Amino acid sequence: MIEDEDRKECDVWESAQDFLLLRHREEPEAGDPGLRLAQVRAEIEATGSYRHTREELVFGARVAWRNSNRCIGRLYWNSLRVRDHRDTADAGGIAREAAEHLRIAAGLGRIRPVITVFAPDRPSRPGPRIWNEQLIRYAGYARPGGTVTGDPRNTGITEAALRLGWPGGPGTAFDVLPLVVQGSGEQPQVFPLPRDAVREVPIVHPELEWLAEWGLRWYAVPAISNMCLEIGGVCYPAAPFNGWYMGTEIGARNLADRDRYDLLPRFAARLGLDTSTDRSLWKDRALVELNRAVLHSFDRAGATVTDHHTESRRFLAHIDREERRGRSVPADWSWIVPPISGSATGVFHRTFDNGQHSPAYVTHPQARALARGEPLLARRAV
Ligand code: ARG
Repeated sequence: MIEDEDRKECDVWESAQDFLLLRHREEPEAGDPGLRLAQVRAEIEATGSYRHTREELVFGARVAWRNSNRCIGRLYWNSLRVRDHRDTADAGGIAREAAEHLRIAAGLGRIRPVITVFAPDRPSRPGPRIWNEQLIRYAGYARPGGTVTGDPRNTGITEAALRLGWPGGPGTAFDVLPLVVQGSGEQPQVFPLPRDAVREVPIVHPELEWLAEWGLRWYAVPAISNMCLEIGGVCYPAAPFNGWYMGTEIGARNLADRDRYDLLPRFAARLGLDTSTDRSLWKDRALVELNRAVLHSFDRAGATVTDHHTESRRFLAHIDREERRGRSVPADWSWIVPPISGSATGVFHRTFDNGQHSPAYVTHPQARALARGEPLLARRAV
């Protein structure tokens, strides 16, 4: 009978081999993989896991982006900037470096794709975790009667932060949440984000001047922080990464979805559209103007943002380029096609293979539950 531990060890070894062979195939300057394979095998036998070289980590993080089937922005996968913080496993250090990550990513002008990799899971000890879905998120305060102030998507993490001692923000619809970080083998702790780490864009419309008075805003840097970076059998549970926004993520989803900020009815009414019948296409017309506002606002603020037409074209260019290198591009059509004007983009008019490759960014079941709004802290039994 194979013991559990042996089983895990041989999974790690299988995945490590696949990864190292892939790397040496794509980066021949790394030399003959034989020596490295022997080293890693010995390390796994002795410790149950192994440590990536700096070059392996960089390659792994970039290829994990290349393998992100839901991401339309993969053309630049090879320029991901990798910050190696594998020696940081304590909550305070992670919060500090997460803030620094945001400063580096936002820069003064253009947004740069960055990942910060913290300590991995070890057989003897789980790695650290960031509970927030993204480094920057707006609080969602559940009010009696079932309404929410702020972003309803984040009620679970808001409740967890409050329970861990966060006093709460001023109570606006756009209160930035603190980070909830769990150091290796520690209890989770809350850390407010320093103001200078959070770049935000006020939402205004190029012609509709009244929109400015609504006080809408969104942050400039989307940095996913609850996915695990998996490279060659090693899991890095805290490895926040960012790109820049495509306008529709904000204008057609975050601000528009019924279960998010739900702004279409109010916006359409203010536009004077007939909201009494679907057939006036008031939702469609409101969506277009809201999305113009988002793109215009980011441009005006000098924050990088892309539009869905440009990004669809780039994605098709990415597919061409990858295929010339002998690689296929796995993709999830339902995520790649933009949420508005799908058929006006090239990605709509074709199909993709949705196979899962490794290295990859994967979602832990726990993180998934929290993103669904389920409370993460079990209520303490009395
Ligand atoms: N859709 C998510 C949001 O609206 C962000 C996901 C990552 N997006 C990106 N452009 N890198 O916050």
